[in-house]
Amino acid sequence: MEPLCDNRANKPIEYISMNNIDVVILAAGKGTRMKSIQPKVMHQLAGKPLLEHVIDTAKTLNPKKIIVVVGHAEAAIRECYTQAPLAFVSQKKQLGTGHAVAQASGHLTSSRTLILLGDVPCIQPGSIKKLAASSADVSVLTETVEDPTGYGRIIRDDDGTPRMIIEEKDANQKQKLTREINTGIFCVNTTLLKQFLNNLTNNNTNKEYYLTDIVEYASNEHRSVKTVAPSLRFEAKGVNSKKQLAELERDYQLEYAYRLMEAGTTISDPKRIDVRGTLTCGADVSIDVGCIFEGDVTLGKNITIESHVIIRNSIIKDNSTIRAFSHIDGAAIGSLNEIGPYARIRPGTESQTRAKIGNFVEIKASTLDVDAKANHLSYIGDAKIGASVNVGAGTITCNYDGANKHQTIIEDNVFIGSDTQLVAPVTVGAGSTIAAGSTVTKDVPPGGLALSRTKQTFIADWKRPTKTTK
Ligand code: UD1
Ligand code: CA
Repeated sequence: MEPLCDNRANKPIEYISMNNIDVVILAAGKGTRMKSIQPKVMHQLAGKPLLEHVIDTAKTLNPKKIIVVVGHAEAAIRECYTQAPLAFVSQKKQLGTGHAVAQASGHLTSSRTLILLGDVPCIQPGSIKKLAASSADVSVLTETVEDPTGYGRIIRDDDGTPRMIIEEKDANQKQKLTREINTGIFCVNTTLLKQFLNNLTNNNTNKEYYLTDIVEYASNEHRSVKTVAPSLRFEAKGVNSKKQLAELERDYQLEYAYRLMEAGTTISDPKRIDVRGTLTCGADVSIDVGCIFEGDVTLGKNITIESHVIIRNSIIKDNSTIRAFSHIDGAAIGSLNEIGPYARIRPGTESQTRAKIGNFVEIKASTLDVDAKANHLSYIGDAKIGASVNVGAGTITCNYDGANKHQTIIEDNVFIGSDTQLVAPVTVGAGSTIAAGSTVTKDVPPGGLALSRTKQTFIADWKRPTKTTK
């Protein structure tokens, strides 16, 4: 099975050499049914805008041009995507999908044109490849679905050849019963497309220029019209409302989970995992419910991820355990580590073999060498923690002086007693011990004991204050 198309994380995908094709992506509509200020195509599926999914899939064809038709909130869309081979054309008034393609017409120079919809994000490289490889004058990606409500219906002649596409609003009762729907995705002979676009009318309920009318035009001119089916059960689903967006998100996530499971990952409940990017798992990885993976996440072999863990752009090496409710962002976790529960690991953190980072420990831009431990309630920022160091409960690196950040260096085999403050910049020499409750402001030489706290006194006849009566 081909991978779910998500190339944000530079996953290797097969690029198809299809140089004589231009792609037009329709993205000018407001998306009224989304009830949002944001343009519809910028809403996110699996952590990536709908339009970006479509652009990434289009790129796999290696087309000569990718032209995005924008209109509603076009500035916001244009500024997000500035890279070639993308070009934008404006559709000032959204007069329909046919009118939208017509705006790009003058830019079409290849022999065939593939038309994609910005609100059909899960379309897969294999499907557009099939469509582009079809020799028909007009090829349409169609699908037979349980519930065709809202989609254009494919009307065929008695001999089965596609005759026309009728939109739901214009369909009669019999036509509405047709369950074969138009995905909105076409590949058309460019010369014919231009001719058809010139002839479009808006004689329909919406008073719009429908791209779908080109099927009837082609059929009338005895041009060849073919239909091609997508392979994935949800790939042709369009997003028109928040409900459809959420449904498609679950479709996408379930498929992603199934593919991980097929490759050997144990997932407690495939309905309760979210991958917003790319998750790569080694053998014997097990993931409990409610976990979220964002960006590019790589898990090595024999890794246990307990419930409700969030991991973003990180690597976790073999035989490590991430306990429940931990957050790991921009980190490289070594092998045989034990993280959490409730650990927060922030960007720039790197741990070596057998490190332990326990509950309510926050670590930022720090390194932990082999066997280093910070088991409870600590903040470690901009620090170098040596091998076999024990960071006691409640220890804090005071790395920020209100203006600048400073480094704390803790050399190998240091024991930091509980509730220590290390005021950076500061170095604790190898093998030293810091007594509990100390505030360390000066470098500590190796091998001794540093202690900075007031001596304990005892007042034998101490009376506790009592409540004053009014
Ligand atoms: C369209 C198809 C329908 C198909 C469905 C598949 C037509 C007439 N209908 O209906 O047959 O079943 O998609 O999802 O083509 N757009 C523009 N400019 C416009 C109008 C739309 O750029 O003037 C863009 C929208 O931003 C959107 C896409 O085209 O990304 C589809 O438009 P939408 O209004 O959602 O069409 P549907 O009613 O879903
Ligand atoms: Ca739509």
